[in-house]
Amino acid sequence: MREVQAIIERTVRLNEHYQNLHLSVQDFGSDIKPGQSLLARLAEETWDPYLREQWWPVGIKKDEIIVERPGSITYEPGQVVSLLGAVGQPFRYKRTLRNVLLIADDTAPSPLVMSIPWLISNRVSVTLVLAGQANQYPTNKLPPELEVIHANDDLSWQNMVMTVGWADQVFVVVKGDDEMRRMTRVWERFKNLRASVDKQYLFAVMQPPQPCGVGACGGCLLTLREGEVCTICTQGPAIDMTSIPFPE
Ligand code: FES
Repeated sequence: MREVQAIIERTVRLNEHYQNLHLSVQDFGSDIKPGQSLLARLAEETWDPYLREQWWPVGIKKDEIIVERPGSITYEPGQVVSLLGAVGQPFRYKRTLRNVLLIADDTAPSPLVMSIPWLISNRVSVTLVLAGQANQYPTNKLPPELEVIHANDDLSWQNMVMTVGWADQVFVVVKGDDEMRRMTRVWERFKNLRASVDKQYLFAVMQPPQPCGVGACGGCLLTLREGEVCTICTQGPAIDMTSIPFPE
């Protein structure tokens, strides 16, 4: 985990809901892998260390990180941003991976976006399912090899059984208003669609508030089955859903 200063070089509006910030930062981007995020704070804001936001990189270039932010927030080129990262563990893919299903339920798919070109370049087929507000996401800049499915608000879609059966691994993000309730709905949906949900198949990509990002404050504790406890900032964000004690 390192802290660096970045400068907003430019902002690129994707549509009325989303924008990309191109951040100039030296010798940092190569440290970040799909699944990892940054804790960010604009330099002119308060120096309270507990007010950082979780920013998701969607592209990394030499000395540049591109992050995705809501279109409703105003950023100016030249603003300085303090970044802490990389937060969390990279997504853990199976070695025999052929087909990956990504699901964004009523929220931006940003935590999943950086993995898409990486998977496709490794000859993995990728399907992105967008439900609810996720349908506002502009998909025209995503790789053409990506299959995009616009799902219904109840997280159903045509040929759902086939899509779920075909996937070797699934990564899910949900709206943060009640993350665990929404993940429970996903878990129940998959249990109904498959005879069994095996380990290393279905992952909840969790985004609770993460004040410190290093496992020190206890702000992102998650109790697992058998009473084990993990911190999402150090062991997540992708948590195997078979290890989460969802209600039976
Ligand atoms: S954010 Fe502090 S323990 Fe995870």
